[in-house]
Amino acid sequence: MSDEKNGVAVKEPLIFELSSPGRTGYSLPELDVPAEPLEDLVPEDMIREEPPEIPEVSEVDVVRHFVRLSQMNHGVDTGFYPLGSCTMKYNPKVNEDVARLPGFAGLHPYQPREMVQGALQLLYDMGEYLKEMAGLGHVTFQPAAGAHGEITGLFLVQAYHRARGEERSKVIIPDSAHGTNPASGVMAGYTVVEVPSDERGDVDLAALEEMMDDDVAALMLTNPSTLGLYDENIQQIAEMVHDCGGLLYYDGANANAILGYSRPGDMGFDIVHYNLHKTFSAPHGGGGPGSGPIVVSDELAPYLPVPLVERDGDDYYLDYDRPETIGQVRSMYGNFGVVVKSYAYIRKMGPDGLKKVSQDAVLNANYLQESLKGHYQLDFDRTCMHEFVLSGSNLKKEYGVATVDVAKALLDYGLHPPTVYFPLIVDESLMIEPTETESKETLDAFIEAMIDIAGRAAEDPDDLHGAPRHTPVRRLDEVTASRRPVVRWYPEEDADA
Ligand SMILES: Cc1ncc(COP(=O)(O)O)c(C=O)c1O
Repeated sequence: MSDEKNGVAVKEPLIFELSSPGRTGYSLPELDVPAEPLEDLVPEDMIREEPPEIPEVSEVDVVRHFVRLSQMNHGVDTGFYPLGSCTMKYNPKVNEDVARLPGFAGLHPYQPREMVQGALQLLYDMGEYLKEMAGLGHVTFQPAAGAHGEITGLFLVQAYHRARGEERSKVIIPDSAHGTNPASGVMAGYTVVEVPSDERGDVDLAALEEMMDDDVAALMLTNPSTLGLYDENIQQIAEMVHDCGGLLYYDGANANAILGYSRPGDMGFDIVHYNLHKTFSAPHGGGGPGSGPIVVSDELAPYLPVPLVERDGDDYYLDYDRPETIGQVRSMYGNFGVVVKSYAYIRKMGPDGLKKVSQDAVLNANYLQESLKGHYQLDFDRTCMHEFVLSGSNLKKEYGVATVDVAKALLDYGLHPPTVYFPLIVDESLMIEPTETESKETLDAFIEAMIDIAGRAAEDPDDLHGAPRHTPVRRLDEVTASRRPVVRWYPEEDADA
């Protein structure tokens, strides 16, 4: 197979090339009953004329083929994954074992209440933990991801204002926000208004003041922001929003930075979503489904989706009797298996362990930031939280090496690139989140690679334009790869079909 055709550097023979007519991976005993004609078993128009062109190979070839494919991917279990905003931390495997226990994995949602007391208690207890961490009193596990939590939260905002006879139309969102925030705002029927960041990376208070009126339904904010900065004026912001009758929505995707240190409820937020699949260590990004529970204040509790898990002494039950509910946003109580994984994680870590998570996540990020800032531009030169954003604009201006070249070059060092070109307010951005689970040696290897790439940009920029060179798939035309992905192999003669 040629490299030029689709950019694939083939080191091993393809499974099709190992095929030999008649070779199989099984052996069956001789048939001792009369063979029925195929036509008697399958409708005639469904019988193919030619046998399928599948490789005829032995069992070991099949095993090697699939193991090899699995090794071509990069994941948290194979290497460093500093994908800013995504918290790609190591996920302890015992969480999987717990979620796989038959008493959890084999449950049916409609089993009688007496048979599912353990599962209900787990949901209830997990809710108590999240309430304690958020500093707010009510929780639902229905949203299946962070973005789903956002839109659910905005529906609650709507219900809250409508109950007061108000139709407010605006949701304010900072220019550093994750794209799901404005998308959720629009999906919920609001007009999204962008508030700029000031020169320190915080919300620009003067600009916010101008936007405040009785049409503001909510402000959506993540703190620390996607710049990895803790907004120094958060209390003032909360006051401004509440003074005009609006509510504060906390995007908790960055909660990994503040566990045990600060609580969104204390900052003044009314609604918080947590990404269990980030902060609380459930695999994500191709590793499994998510869970985006939201925790809300007393004022918003009546509108939460049904059912809620409640407790009467030692008896746990699902409460549907909530007349002002917005209804259901997902079947039953969300992605239960993900909640089990995160519950196992929280129980193992305990309050001190979770505090240590944030300490180490912040320490690791600052170590990287300080080590790299002389080599890449740092627009907001402040102590960061769990992540920080560099700019490759110095390399672009001086040597014509773009951030995408840096990202692709990192792949040749066996490292996953950081998030690139987001947040949008930093030119040529590289958003780096090391997480707490990485050792100093791994961080040093990343620093070394990043500095090496900056040096190579000065010496031989063209070389970087061709990176990566040692990965199963080389530099692709990204537009074609996303618009016309070729995800299966075709025989040579059909390749252009
Ligand atoms: C800051 C921020 N907010 C919201 C989200 C959305 O979360 P989810 O991917 O679970 O929908 C993300 C996801 O990357 C994020 O980083």
